[in-house]
Parts: sequence; C-alpha cells; structure tokens
Amino acid sequence: MRSVFGVFFWLRTCTAHYSLRLSTIEISFAKEFYIMPKGNKCVTAEDCVGLEPRRFIVNHAGGESLCQEVKDWLDPHNIDGLGGFMLPKGVSTELHYHDYDEHWAWIKGRSVVTISLPDGRSDSVEVSTGWIVYCPRGVEHGHQPIEDWGCYQWTSVVRPGSRQGHLHR
Ligand SMILES: [Fe+2]
Repeated sequence: MRSVFGVFFWLRTCTAHYSLRLSTIEISFAKEFYIMPKGNKCVTAEDCVGLEPRRFIVNHAGGESLCQEVKDWLDPHNIDGLGGFMLPKGVSTELHYHDYDEHWAWIKGRSVVTISLPDGRSDSVEVSTGWIVYCPRGVEHGHQPIEDWGCYQWTSVVRPGSRQGHLHR
C-alpha cells in the first residue's frame, strides 16, 4: 500500500504528463488528477438546439449567471491555462474556436464580443468589467474592442488528440 501512495505522489508532482488509456476514458496525471473522455468532441449543431448564443456571454457584475446547459459542457479547468492581457484598442481577436474550452473574464475597457454556434447562429454583445465569455470547445468567439482592454483568460484540460491554437470554419 505504501508503494502505491508513493507512485501516486510521484505522478502528482511530475511536470511531465502521464496517462493510462482505457477503452472509453483516459486517466491523466499532470499537476492535478483528471478523468477525461477520449477525443476532442466539440459542441455540435444538434447540441445547441434551443440555446441562444447570448447565454455564453454572461454579465456577472449585473447579476447574471451561467446557465446549466452550458455548464454541463465544460471540461475541468487547467491551472496552467490561466493568463491575462492588457492591450490597446487596436488589438482585436478574430472569430475562431478551439478543441478545448476557453473563457474570457473582462477586467478593463469595453469590447463587442461575438459568439457563433456550430449551427450558424451568432450574436454580438458589448462587454465590460465583470462580464465572462464562456466558450466550450467548438464554439466560435472573437471581439472588437471599443477601448483599451484587459481580460483574464483560462482554458480547460486538453483532451487527448485535441488540436492546439486557433481553429477556423
Ligand atoms: Fe480563443
């Protein structure tokens, strides 16, 4: 038993990524412990039936909260995927999506965020401090700043077989 715990803590403290592949799930050991579904299954057009793009852009400062339908799609957060930006008005972000979840928490300035779902429906909303944009894998997102802006960004744990970076339709 003692050696089992020893292996467990060794895996937890390694910076490299170890995994044990089973038939339907992958158990991953990095800095944290996760059980992840295999594959980079993105949100599909069928998944979005009855859900408006506006539900992915949440004014937390105004009392809104993330709806359960979107929460249910989110994978575990990746602490190594946390970052922040303070950028001038002229730096925008083109419409794109990822094979992993990515979220933006606005902390400065106003910007017009666009969310486009896999079924082609899209919406654009002006955001400012206190808003969070939730982008499950496969949901396109981009923004056009109105002012100098800043946000924190974080991602989910990357599923095995997922592609990196910005993807476009
Ligand atoms: Fe992104």
